[in-house]
Amino acid sequence: MEVSDDQRICDVEDVPGAGTFLFTYRDGFDTGEALLVRFGGGAPSSDAEAGGTALGDEDTGIGCWKNYCQHWTDVRLDKGSGARVRDGELWCNKHAATFRLDDGVCTHGPCEGAVLDEVEVTVHDGGVYLTDDRYEFDSTGPDGDRDLSTGSPGGRIDFTGS
Ligand code: FES
Repeated sequence: MEVSDDQRICDVEDVPGAGTFLFTYRDGFDTGEALLVRFGGGAPSSDAEAGGTALGDEDTGIGCWKNYCQHWTDVRLDKGSGARVRDGELWCNKHAATFRLDDGVCTHGPCEGAVLDEVEVTVHDGGVYLTDDRYEFDSTGPDGDRDLSTGSPGGRIDFTGS
């Protein structure tokens, strides 16, 4: 697959084994956050290095999911310092839903059976590239346009105090 420098998110080595790598993408005039995860212990294979491999390939060990829970979609999984990852699963700290790193399926919690929203990335020549036709890479880290007063992109008003 052809990739260009402006699609490059980070080096493969930047994606932690027990955490997440947060980045911001552009969707037309909007922006959103996604996170990279490493699964299966995988460093990229030589094939992936040579030709590039799309999301979910066991050889790359890199997956990419939009940064929100499937229970309450205004709750971010990575609040800027890395989401909790343990035993091959990504945790939502709000109500402890767990999502498999490799396919995004919720295995436990209030949204069991739901699947995280996928963003396509490609591993190529030691780098991770955003190759989802819907989006353009913006920057690493959290979305600068996010409303920090609510702590979430959607700004849900919560009357429960939780
Ligand atoms: S908001 Fe994530 S488990 Fe409830």
